[in-house]
Amino acid sequence: MPFVGADLQAIPNHALRSYVECREHEILVEDVHNDTNSERRTMMRLEGRNALVTGAAGGIGQAISARLKLEGARVAAADIDPSGVDADAYLAGDLTDANYCDGLPQAAMDTLGGLDILVNNAGIIRRGDITQASDDDYRMSMAINVEAPFRLCRAAIPIMAETGGGAIVNTASCWGLHPGPHHPVYVMSKAALASLTQCLGRDHAHQGIRVNAVCPNEVDTPMLRTGFEIRGLDPETAIGELDCTVPLGRIAQPEDIADVVAFLASDDARYMCGALLEVNGGKPVG
Ligand SMILES: NC(=O)c1ccc[n+]([C@@H]2O[C@H](COP(=O)([O-])OP(=O)(O)OC[C@H]3O[C@@H](n4cnc5c(N)ncnc54)[C@H](O)[C@@H]3O)[C@@H](O)[C@H]2O)c1
Repeated sequence: MPFVGADLQAIPNHALRSYVECREHEILVEDVHNDTNSERRTMMRLEGRNALVTGAAGGIGQAISARLKLEGARVAAADIDPSGVDADAYLAGDLTDANYCDGLPQAAMDTLGGLDILVNNAGIIRRGDITQASDDDYRMSMAINVEAPFRLCRAAIPIMAETGGGAIVNTASCWGLHPGPHHPVYVMSKAALASLTQCLGRDHAHQGIRVNAVCPNEVDTPMLRTGFEIRGLDPETAIGELDCTVPLGRIAQPEDIADVVAFLASDDARYMCGALLEVNGGKPVG
């Protein structure tokens, strides 16, 4: 940082101005890095829009529903688990059920009176090397992380096309772009979702449907915490240690991801199609 400890009287005006601007910028950047309070930056970018969010009872899903609502959208929450759902409608069901998936976009349309936004956020993680992976690990991971988004996109796109367009946001993962160790089934499923996003982003832009993905690294949610518990680790201690591995100084909170989802769903991202946005605090997959 320039001029630290210097006598400010001795600094030429133009240089002082650039120092002050630089310092203001640093303070702003520090503030933004540590600010997960979305309400302080509320915009109404989604007024009048109708959104379907899967995995809406989970850590990231709850934050996405809250953020979309805060920006004026009406939200239909889809999840197998009713606890923690806070939305305008709750469409309960199991994403491994093909009929449920195939009918969900129309059910959201009927319930809300429109469908402008689909967030394929639900996901599961099955851990371990391929030699430890069961048929059930494979089947469930592919069913929930890949087949459900496939079915939901396939059903939602004609509905959105008929009303002039829409936005689909998939929750993929940094690990789907840069494979992390010892999670081949999860990584493969998220790579498939990222690829689906790129394909649909290109194929349906001409209908005014933008398909993009948010790709988080580690996020402080039940998915991450239960992983520590299964390995016999105290989640608080483990997250504290993980924080130190992130250049920004902390792993993501669900709101850090939800804010990017809201951006991708909004007209601020009007020229983005097939993008895979990494939200990682500067931490590469290692
Ligand atoms: N937490 C992380 O570190 C992290 C990192 C990168 C990507 N992601 C992705 O973010 C998304 C959300 O993850 P999260 O961390 O909020 O997890 P979470 O476990 O807190 O939430 C997942 C939600 O999906 C729902 N769900 C699971 N199986 C279902 C099924 N068969 N039918 C209907 N709903 C079902 C669960 O009930 C739960 O509410 C996932 O796709 C995950 O892969 C998470």
